[in-house]
Amino acid sequence: MTSRRPIVAGNWKMNGLLASLAEAKLVAAGLTAKAPEVLICPPAPLIVPLVEALKGTPVTVGGQDCHAKASGAHTGDIAAEMLADAGVRAVIAGHSERRSDHGERDQDVKAKAEAVLRAGLTAIVCIGETLGQRQAGLAYDVNARQLAGSLPTGATADNLVIAYEPVWAIGTGLTPSSDDIAEMHKRLREQLAKAGLADARILYGGSVKPSNAREILSIANVDGALVGGASLKAQDFLGIIAAYGG
Ligand code: PGA
Repeated sequence: MTSRRPIVAGNWKMNGLLASLAEAKLVAAGLTAKAPEVLICPPAPLIVPLVEALKGTPVTVGGQDCHAKASGAHTGDIAAEMLADAGVRAVIAGHSERRSDHGERDQDVKAKAEAVLRAGLTAIVCIGETLGQRQAGLAYDVNARQLAGSLPTGATADNLVIAYEPVWAIGTGLTPSSDDIAEMHKRLREQLAKAGLADARILYGGSVKPSNAREILSIANVDGALVGGASLKAQDFLGIIAAYGG
C-alpha cells in the first residue's frame, strides 16, 4: 500500500461562468468521508468566487497556468503569487493545450512550475505523447524527456504532482489500455525515484469518465486523475470520485 493520497482534479479549461459555481458546490456537498483529495481548476475569473463558495469544504481550488515571474509588464498574464493570494492551492503547468496553443517548451514549463513552488503552491506538471509519437514507438522516450525537462528545481514529493496525459486521449473518448497506462506510470515512477521524488503523485488524464474511472484509478502507480470534460458536471465528477468509494 502507498501513503500517496489520491487526488481527483478537475480542469474546467475555458469553460464556466459564475452560474457554474453551483456545480462545484454540488461536488463539495456530494463527498463522503472516503473521498480522495478533490481540486477544481476553473478559469481565472472564477477563482476568487470559487474559493469563497467552497470555504469550509474539503474541495480546494487550483489555477490552470501562471507566468514564471512574480510581477511585471506582462499584459494578460497571472503570477503564481497572485493565484496564491487569491486562495489557490495548486497550479497546472504545461498542459498539452498550453504546449500546443502557446508554444510552451519544457524549459518554459519548468520555469512556471518553479514559480508555483516559489509561491508556496503545489505544481501539477503535465506531460504526454501525441498519437504519432505513440505509433512510432516513442511514447516512453517523449514522456521521459518531457519529465526530465519540466521538473522544477526544489520539488518534493509534497509539492509536485505529475499528470501523464496522452495528447491523443484528451477530449477524444480514447484511452490507452490499462497495461499501457500501468507501464508508463511504472517507468515515470522509476524516473521520479532517481530524482529523489519516488513518492510524488502521478495522475492519469485523458477521457477519464465515470464509466472507466474505477478501472483506470485502480492501476498501480496511478494516484488519481486530471479530468477535463467530465469535471464540468457535478454528477459526472462525483461519479469519478466514487471510484475511491467517496
Ligand atoms: P478530458 O481532458 O478529460 O476532457 O479528456 C483531460 C485534460 O485535458 O486534463
